[in-house]
Amino acid sequence: MVNLFSKAQPNDVFTPRSREINERMYVDRPELEERLEDALKGDKYIIVHGESGNGKTWLYKRVLTHKSVRFEIVNLANAVLHGSLLSAFEAKLAELGIETPTQRTEEFDFGVRPGGIGGGGKQQTQVALATQSAFSGLVTYLNNKAHGKRSVLVLDNFEQIVDDTDYLRAVASIIISADEESIAKHGVKLLLVGVPRDLKQLVAKVGNASTIANRLIEIPEVARLTLDEAISLMSRGFEKELRCEFTLDKVFLYKEICWKTDRIAQQIHELCLKIALEAQRDNNIISLDVVSRAERKWLEESFTSDLAVIENLMNSIETKVGRKNQVIYSLGKVDKEDFKHSDIERIVREEFDVDEGINLNLPQMLASFSKAENPLIRRTPKNNAYRFVSPKLKMAIRAGLQLDAEHRVVKIVE
Ligand SMILES: Nc1ncnc2c1ncn2[C@@H]1O[C@H](COP(=O)(O)OP(=O)(O)O)[C@@H](O)[C@H]1O
Ligand SMILES: [Mg+2]
Repeated sequence: MVNLFSKAQPNDVFTPRSREINERMYVDRPELEERLEDALKGDKYIIVHGESGNGKTWLYKRVLTHKSVRFEIVNLANAVLHGSLLSAFEAKLAELGIETPTQRTEEFDFGVRPGGIGGGGKQQTQVALATQSAFSGLVTYLNNKAHGKRSVLVLDNFEQIVDDTDYLRAVASIIISADEESIAKHGVKLLLVGVPRDLKQLVAKVGNASTIANRLIEIPEVARLTLDEAISLMSRGFEKELRCEFTLDKVFLYKEICWKTDRIAQQIHELCLKIALEAQRDNNIISLDVVSRAERKWLEESFTSDLAVIENLMNSIETKVGRKNQVIYSLGKVDKEDFKHSDIERIVREEFDVDEGINLNLPQMLASFSKAENPLIRRTPKNNAYRFVSPKLKMAIRAGLQLDAEHRVVKIVE
């Protein structure tokens, strides 16, 4: 029961159990859902983007299921695993129990036969054709299953292939050539899902840029949950579903969890799962003690490598001022995605009561954090700002460091 708060499922697993949890724990995200619904009515292919764990997969599954739109997911992580987009399509066809068309196999064999006619160019064409026809196989399948009604083929985890032009080209060519066939005739839409902000440009730049850009529409970023969404998720889980009791101020607890998880849906679930498990050991009561045990476990299980990065940069606790530690702690307090040294300086001076007369050398210190062997932050490409190397590093600071009685920065987990 407690694992209503669930770990993220691999995208292509959609078991009855995960479907049930999704239904019970899903918090509505009206704006995003509407935008996706509208995009589904249009005649363009759709892009859904946002950081990992923010709920892209849950969002489209929810909307498509609720709108009774038939869909199939191709996990692009499998493309990388098996070496090509073609093999990812073939794996999907096999999973659906569809035979690979023989004609295509012959073409493919012909293309790769050692010493056969043609060089790499020919072979590439053959692979492209094979990919195209595997794609057609999926489109036809979906179309049959949907009885001609609109259906969707999802290419999820796009971030897995963005660094490889071959994959991108393969996707671009599908978008170009599948257009008339799948949209007009079959009503099958493509949904491209992944982390990068500039997915559209990434695909467009390897093919016929303007044509591709014209055929794609992006819905707004699937970002962290809003405060209301996050609180509604926690109260649904702890109060309505699990009927926990609280010996602490639950609003305060929910805000703390929002802060530590940076309102990333997946992290909220994972931390709440730990709290629920600990509470279960204590007669379903959520106390300070339960929460701190849970947080420790959450940190130890999910943030070991992030904590190591931070630890490597810290002063030893004996240092009198521990300025570096103060700066790291202050980095955790920053709200903006991109920040400047002046933003951090303000926080350090306020939090640790450092007067204006003392030079903090913030520019140098931040530069050193970005040049470390395992960097904590990196410079943004355009301006002289910084951002965290990964969102988890910020969470690890927020949840992993605290101030002791003498206002020194100390680690929570040794
Ligand atoms: N709308 C939502 N309501 C409740 N929990 C959610 C929601 N969206 C995501 N989650 C939680 O976050 C986890 C990660 O979501 P997922 O859709 O897999 O993220 P992404 O695909 O962006 O990496 C899910 O397993 C679920 O626990
Ligand atoms: Mg996903």
